[in-house]
Amino acid sequence: MVSKILIIGACGQIGSELTNKLRAELGVNNVIASDIRESNVELVASGPFEIIDAKNLDQISDCVKKYDINTVYLMAALLSATGEKYPEKAWNLNMESLLNVLNLAKERLIDKVFWPSSIAVFGPTTPKVNTPQKTIMEPTTVYGITKQVGERWCEYYHNNYGVDVRSLRYPGIISWKTLPGGGTTDYAIEIFHKAIKDGHYNCFLTENTALPMMYMEDAVKATLDIMEADAEDVKIRSSYNLSAISFTPKELALEITKQLPEFTISYKPDFRQKIADSWPSSIDDSSARGDWNWNHSYDLEAITKEMLLQLREKAVS
Ligand code: SER
Repeated sequence: MVSKILIIGACGQIGSELTNKLRAELGVNNVIASDIRESNVELVASGPFEIIDAKNLDQISDCVKKYDINTVYLMAALLSATGEKYPEKAWNLNMESLLNVLNLAKERLIDKVFWPSSIAVFGPTTPKVNTPQKTIMEPTTVYGITKQVGERWCEYYHNNYGVDVRSLRYPGIISWKTLPGGGTTDYAIEIFHKAIKDGHYNCFLTENTALPMMYMEDAVKATLDIMEADAEDVKIRSSYNLSAISFTPKELALEITKQLPEFTISYKPDFRQKIADSWPSSIDDSSARGDWNWNHSYDLEAITKEMLLQLREKAVS
């Protein structure tokens, strides 16, 4: 059967790259991009695009019927830092959108769902180092609460209604094409932009705040890997721990100075420090590696080289 895919939140940091990759693999017309507004000009121009508010079930369901969609990637969400500013908005968007998509799968209007969870499902009482797949989860951000509840719903819909939903707990994702919006791990992208533009970065986290991170190429690969895996190999239907590397702002700055010796960094932690402090510093993702052969490729050195190269090229083009 031909995969006909709808990506909700396609203009965002991960959605835009996922759309491009899937279009390259399946053909432009088999991957419908959608978002609440046309906020990414390149993406909108690159193939079929629909305006969809992820909270609106009718809009999603009309689009699913119009294009005969069988798979939905739900990438729309309010992230951790923005979520703390607008708690109710974060709850409404993150929960309503997920239940809309799960219900379409329950009614068999679609066959398969991808929904991202996050390291934000964990909290201050979770073991911080090499955080296991199954552990204490007491998230303290609204974003984390929505991801934790979302995971419970995914497993519930799978167990009770046979819904084929697959999910990953993304770490911070580093990329250069589309900027992230409103996350706590965003510093690891801002730092590259500022390094090139100003030679200096004032970081909103302290120098020793270690967080799990991953390059976009790896994140997209993990997403496609889990979606293409045989259903019986996807044994966890809440969400899989997913990991590549962990580093602190100080370690990242040091890596940047290997390429840009003049680069300097200062630290002025703000409200996002408390969010980062509540999250793991590293993740045990052996279930993903064992169940569907997950493996990452990019280490800190490779990410740093690639980010500086791509952003420099982008700046002159
Ligand atoms: N990158 C996200 C954030 O910082 C975590 O999932 O909010």
